[in-house]
Amino acid sequence: MNNPEIIAATVTYVQKELEGAEGGHDWFHIERVWNNTRRIAQTEPVDHLVVELGALLHDIADAKFHGGDESIGPRKAGQFLELLQVPVEVIDHVKNIIAHISFKGGNFEAAFHSPELAVVRDADRLDALGAIGIARAFHYGGFKNREIYNPAIPPDLNMSRETYKKTKAPTINHFYEKLLLLKDRMHTETGKRMALERHRFMENFLEQFYREWNGSLSA
Ligand code: ADP
Ligand code: NI
Repeated sequence: MNNPEIIAATVTYVQKELEGAEGGHDWFHIERVWNNTRRIAQTEPVDHLVVELGALLHDIADAKFHGGDESIGPRKAGQFLELLQVPVEVIDHVKNIIAHISFKGGNFEAAFHSPELAVVRDADRLDALGAIGIARAFHYGGFKNREIYNPAIPPDLNMSRETYKKTKAPTINHFYEKLLLLKDRMHTETGKRMALERHRFMENFLEQFYREWNGSLSA
C-alpha cells in the first residue's frame, strides 16, 4: 500500500469505529483535527504519514470512555496499522503520539517528545478552542450533567486531576481551568496563531455571557 492508500484505509476504519460516538469525540472531531494537522504540518519539518495517522487515530479508544485504561488506544491503533503492513517505526511513533497527546501534565506528558507529536497535539488542542471549543465544552458538560455556571463555585486552578474528575464543576469553570490556558501551551507557530484567534473569541464569549447573566446588556 502507498501512503494515500494507507490514509484512505485509516479514514474508513476510524469512521466505522467512531459510529455513534459522543458528539465531542466523533468522526467530525477527527476530521477537524486532521485538517488542522495538515495545515500546521505545511510549515513544520515533520513526517506527513506519521502526523496524519496520529491525527486520524488519536481518539480511537479514549481512556475517558474505556474505564480510564490509557493503553487501549495505542494498542488498537497498532493492531490496525500492522494489518496494513505499515513500517514498524511509523507504527511505534503513531502509538507514542496517541499515548502522549492528552493534556495531563505531570510526568506522563514529559515522557515522549517529537515534532510530530507537537503538531498533532496543537491540532487537537485547537479543536478545544474557539466556537467549536465552546460547543464541545457545553456538549461535554451536558453529557456529564454539569451546571452551565454557578457563581458560588469559583474555578480552582490548583485542583488535582483526581479531584477534578470527581467534582461536578460547572462548565464555565473548565474555561479557566483548561481552555484559556491552552494558547500558551501551543508548540508550533501556526498553532499559536490559530489558538490566539480562537482564544480571543472565547474571551468575548465569556464577557457577553456574564453581561447577559447579570442582566446588564444595554439593548
Ligand atoms: P481530546 O479528547 O480532544 O483530546 P478532551 O478529551 O480533554 O480532549 O476533551 C474533549 C472536549 O471535551 C474538549 O472540547 C474539552 O474542552 C471538553 N471537556 C473535557 N473535560 C471537560 C469538562 N470538565 N467540562 C467541560 N468540557 C470538558
Ligand atoms: Ni481529540
